[in-house]
Amino acid sequence: MAWRTGITDLLGVRYPIMQAGMGVVAGGRLAAAVSDAGGVGCIGASRMSPAELDEEIALVQAATSAPFGVDFLFPDLGERSAGPGEGTSHAVDPALRAELLEIVYRRRVPLIVYAMKLPAGAADEAHEHGIRVMTLVGTARHAARAQQLGADAVIATGTEAGGHTGAVALSVLVPAVVREVDIPVVAAGGIATGAGVAAALALGADGVWVGTRFLATHEAAVHDDVRKEAVARTEDQTVISRALSGKTCRLATNDFTAHWATREIKPFPEQAVEINRQGLVLKGLRDGDVVGSPIPLGQSTALVDRVDGAAAVLADLVGGAERALCGLTERVAP
Ligand SMILES: Cc1cc2nc3c(=O)[nH]c(=O)nc-3n(C[C@H](O)[C@H](O)[C@H](O)COP(=O)(O)O)c2cc1C
Repeated sequence: MAWRTGITDLLGVRYPIMQAGMGVVAGGRLAAAVSDAGGVGCIGASRMSPAELDEEIALVQAATSAPFGVDFLFPDLGERSAGPGEGTSHAVDPALRAELLEIVYRRRVPLIVYAMKLPAGAADEAHEHGIRVMTLVGTARHAARAQQLGADAVIATGTEAGGHTGAVALSVLVPAVVREVDIPVVAAGGIATGAGVAAALALGADGVWVGTRFLATHEAAVHDDVRKEAVARTEDQTVISRALSGKTCRLATNDFTAHWATREIKPFPEQAVEINRQGLVLKGLRDGDVVGSPIPLGQSTALVDRVDGAAAVLADLVGGAERALCGLTERVAP
């Protein structure tokens, strides 16, 4: 079947199914597999050095000529900058941010995703290099701001989502954002099946941004025990906690979230500095400490029942969505 939405048109891709740019998890290998299969792969660059980012982009470009993206988690610290080298995302340092962006511009990556607030001027700068820009939003108000700042599309992130997320359910957020902006809207949070993709399109979305389901792929750069957690957990085994960074973030419930549930959590970015100083994010995702370390995970973990290759996941989402949409027209005949 031929798909056509605001996202297939914007990026020139076959399917408007985007793999979320998960820090640590989504390197060039995962992004290349998704893009090559007709979706949109995205490198999660939040913890990469410029050399690492350059290498991961090169890996994608060697594997496929299909469009892909790079996701940055540049915090908006205002006057409260923790300063470079203090252990939060390295990109608190403006010089380092510029260096990372320069690599993306030089290598002509088709898409940049700003995970946090879209900085003023960022979209215009990317557009000068012929690059599309998207940003994650949790309210219609934030979506309107992103549109005003020149975003080409917004990723409406429902509270179901793994990682940093807001409080509004996807079923309300997507139509509210669609009503607010004229640019394409991508739905994120809780989408792990073809039926979920179809539902997002029915709500008015032009595409989907899927994290947790792609975490459970062979290409994700995580420890096997993390993949197993994504398969094993039920929908009530994640929790929104500020323990990872000081901002609301959905994590797998474990000793880490239980420990912090009864302790004072510092505001962002101080909490992130503390957790990073202890190396807990890598200890969880890369070393497989799924008990004592933070593991970002969405409620859609309940719908993940096996570990697959990324291309197989994409094919399953596409096929499942097509079946769901055709099934609906049978149930509601004209
Ligand atoms: C392990 C993990 C790491 C994540 N890291 C990032 C990140 O670095 N940047 C970002 O924009 N979003 C990140 N996210 C959130 C995703 O972009 C996305 O919003 C979320 O996965 C969508 O919900 P889902 O997990 O239900 O599919 C992360 C999510 C997970 C599960």
